[in-house]
Amino acid sequence: MCGIIGYIGEENALPILISGLKALEYRGYDSAGVALLVGDKFEVRKKVGKVEILEESLKDNNLDSHIGIGHTRWATHGSPTELNAHPHGDCSGRVFAVHNGIIENYKELKSYLEDRGHIFRSQTDTEVVPHLIENFLNSGKDFDTSLFDALKMIRGAYALAIIDSKNPETLYATKLSSPLVIGVGVEENFLASDPSALIGKTKNVVYLGDGEIAKINHNNINIINFEKQETPFEIVSLEWDLEQAQKGDFSHFMLKEIFEGPEVVRSAFRGRIKPKENAVKLGGLEIVSDKLKDIKRLIVLACGTSYYAGLVGEYYFEEISKIPTEVHFASEFRYREETFNEGTAVIAISQSGETADTLAAMKKAKEHGLMALGIVNTVGSTIARETEAGVYNHAGPEIGVASTKAFLSQLTILLLMAIYLSKDKYTTEPLLKELEKIPNKIEEILYQSSQLEELAEKYKDYENFLFLGRRYNYPVALEGALKLKEISYIHAEGYGAREMKHGPIAMINPDFPSMAIVPQNSVSEKMFSNLEEIKARKGPILAIATEGDKKISSLADDVFYVPKTMEALEPFLTVVPLQLFSYYIGTKRGFDVDKPRNLAKSVTVE
Ligand code: AGP
Repeated sequence: MCGIIGYIGEENALPILISGLKALEYRGYDSAGVALLVGDKFEVRKKVGKVEILEESLKDNNLDSHIGIGHTRWATHGSPTELNAHPHGDCSGRVFAVHNGIIENYKELKSYLEDRGHIFRSQTDTEVVPHLIENFLNSGKDFDTSLFDALKMIRGAYALAIIDSKNPETLYATKLSSPLVIGVGVEENFLASDPSALIGKTKNVVYLGDGEIAKINHNNINIINFEKQETPFEIVSLEWDLEQAQKGDFSHFMLKEIFEGPEVVRSAFRGRIKPKENAVKLGGLEIVSDKLKDIKRLIVLACGTSYYAGLVGEYYFEEISKIPTEVHFASEFRYREETFNEGTAVIAISQSGETADTLAAMKKAKEHGLMALGIVNTVGSTIARETEAGVYNHAGPEIGVASTKAFLSQLTILLLMAIYLSKDKYTTEPLLKELEKIPNKIEEILYQSSQLEELAEKYKDYENFLFLGRRYNYPVALEGALKLKEISYIHAEGYGAREMKHGPIAMINPDFPSMAIVPQNSVSEKMFSNLEEIKARKGPILAIATEGDKKISSLADDVFYVPKTMEALEPFLTVVPLQLFSYYIGTKRGFDVDKPRNLAKSVTVE
């Protein structure tokens, strides 16, 4: 899950590469590097650590070049060292490449090339690419043919940006399942793993397809497929603006994106609900509206936070649409042997739209002839383009590695889809009316964020945490635990409160606090008895409860109150304090909450 950037144009490439790498740093940040063609020679600079360290090291170098490639790394093969940082070159220094993905047969290719005298400098899988191209160049083939023949020998997933010093006016790019977009400028063109890195440079992008090779000059783009046929391409316009991709007055993207919660819910239902007519309009599903009528079973495919949103969606589809629904970790679903009955459809949920497991799981479902729908935030991303129909979140770019606003947006879309599929089997008007009030209720919670900062100060030194919830709030407990794990590296587990008796209660002691999600609803009495069991074992309790609840303060050590809402909509309100709590604990423990260790925003390789 690395970040690739490339530039060819009239400007000096270096500052453009550096700012692009900074925007892509959420994809991996253990080392970074650039290769610039200065005259007919490559100037290559690589540093371990964040992009700012590379930038600092380049400060006094006036490397003036109009073509270059850059990379920010999330190590898969070979530890984070300068030698293993990208770009990687061939023996002669003629060809340099940056790569995102995994070359599965790199060991065979490496020994094949070493047998032919190639000297390898790194432990990476990537370095086989420039050497393989060089191998064909040495046999007298031209660059295009050498690139072709090299790609035919490579197995695995990749997005590659390549420069040949003998073709100084051309940037080469190709991909197979890892994402890569071309940014179309005026007398300049860009390459990036993610369109958000192009914000402020161009709004016009071309999404490179699998098995395509692009030859990019400063004023021309030519795309061919692996059969060497010209491939038409579409230039699409990004809806995001620079301001959205910047922190503004917030100290972290994560905090900014939490505070974007209310607006993100509004933009997810804007123009899509007519409460008075008890109607939901989802344009992206109209093309399959007939087929939707025959759905008898739904399978939700996702990973991480998107998976937990899917678990709330399971309640919506079963209780509102009356459609039997299962939610699967995409990484497990892709390797399950099972039969699918007529009328089974899958819904792939993904913020980035590039998560490899979700993409593969969805492709498997399509191979079995299932209708594949999507709930995706990144417009034009691979999962969005692979689905038959779907709904975009319109949540804007989510840059903080820990997903927050996307979760709220996914809940909104899942609720709208459930109502859309309910066909009056469920009185949805009250739900739609209450949904319209949710953004204001989230704002009420955000106004009290300082209270959560104080609670974080009190609980920041515990090394274990149990998150407990029931029904709609069970997935919220799982999501809350994930946020705390991601941001503060505290061991946190989400659990169904009733399930606690079947094991986890053994862990409860005065040093093991529980975050109890216990709003007033159909199961709050049950939750209270679970809290009694914790209290009896002197476990500290921090509760998320409904305003006006008189009973909870007698059970919990600390209580954060959220506004009252309908049970089905509680996750919209109960998750926000958990997002803020994790944020404050992470910052108080001194961690970079936007770039938590060992994580990357979208997991594009298996
Ligand atoms: C969540 O905070 C994490 N970043 C991660 O679990 C994420 O939700 C997961 O990788 C799925 O990503 P996607 O929604 O982009 O597919």
